Amino acid sequence: MTGMLRAALMLAMIATPALAKEAVISSKPIIIAHRGASGERPEHTLAAYQLAIEQGADFIEPDLVMTRDGQLVARHENDISGTTDVSSRKEFADRKATKVIDGIKHTGWFTEDFTLAELKTLRAKERLPLLRRGNSKFDGQFEVPTLREIIALAKAASARTGRTIGIYPETKHPSYFASIGLPLEAALVAELRAAGWDRADAPVFIQSFEVDNLKALKQLTRVPLIQLMASEGGPADGAQPSYTAMATPEGLKAIAVYAAGIGPQKDMVVAGDGTVSSLVADAHATGLKVHPWTFRAENYFLPSGLRKGINPAGHGDMTAEIGRFLAAGVDGLFTDYPYLGAQARDRHSR
Ligand code: G3P
Ligand code: CA
Repeated sequence: MTGMLRAALMLAMIATPALAKEAVISSKPIIIAHRGASGERPEHTLAAYQLAIEQGADFIEPDLVMTRDGQLVARHENDISGTTDVSSRKEFADRKATKVIDGIKHTGWFTEDFTLAELKTLRAKERLPLLRRGNSKFDGQFEVPTLREIIALAKAASARTGRTIGIYPETKHPSYFASIGLPLEAALVAELRAAGWDRADAPVFIQSFEVDNLKALKQLTRVPLIQLMASEGGPADGAQPSYTAMATPEGLKAIAVYAAGIGPQKDMVVAGDGTVSSLVADAHATGLKVHPWTFRAENYFLPSGLRKGINPAGHGDMTAEIGRFLAAGVDGLFTDYPYLGAQARDRHSR
């Protein structure tokens, strides 16, 4: 081997990790459709996911809960009173119950008390009719979808569009569901495996606000895991005292053992006044991706400086808000308005 060739090989060996890192850093931030395009359709319906895909979302987000017969369905919580017509269905009146979930008392109707066949007779309704009046006209039209149907939708859309549409499922109330004999984790992994998506490179992230179920999932699947965190409180499983502690450099190092990234509440990354925290830098220093939530266009949800007019349902400048986060270096974001998110991301990436 000539000296020049040896030098070239050594240079290539030294350069490869830097190039790999560059490729990760320069890839576009992902747009995650939060509960679908939930700003424009009732959340967690196939119509909401379909619209999100048409609007340019890279991932669609189902929150997952379980039925009495062990089927995973998309609802933000197991209490379906606020997002379905169950309270008006006389045949299910006797299913109304009061339960304590994650330490909070809830009275309503719960997915774990319904078979999938029964749930399928219900119809979705808009959660926020005062803020999203246009969505209410879809009330009564759409079913509660299963995870299997959502995966099929994503796969069909990928084949049709030539884009890769992924899913970003969240296990909801995992320790509660385990406590009633309906653990979510194995069922989720079984669905992914059946879809050929139980792989490290599958277009899937699994997220949870709890810690121990993510650690359990780490043993069950190679799909990347995302530790969710809120600006207040701590995980309902009590595995860590607070999210604030988990967001410190030490806390992030502990998360990096089992997760590929964090999903922080957005004000942990950039405060309403535009002040940027060290969270993105600290997370990246441990190799964790950062996907904050949730970007919503209505004035009601925006920091005061980005509102337009005084109508809480009116839309302010969510695009400017997203711009702050992209400038802060986030790797993706959850939004109820994927078309605005994709526009902001594409403008930033150019
Ligand atoms: O999963 C990210 C974000 O969706 C967490 O909040 O309450 O909308 O599920 P939530
Ligand atoms: Ca979620």
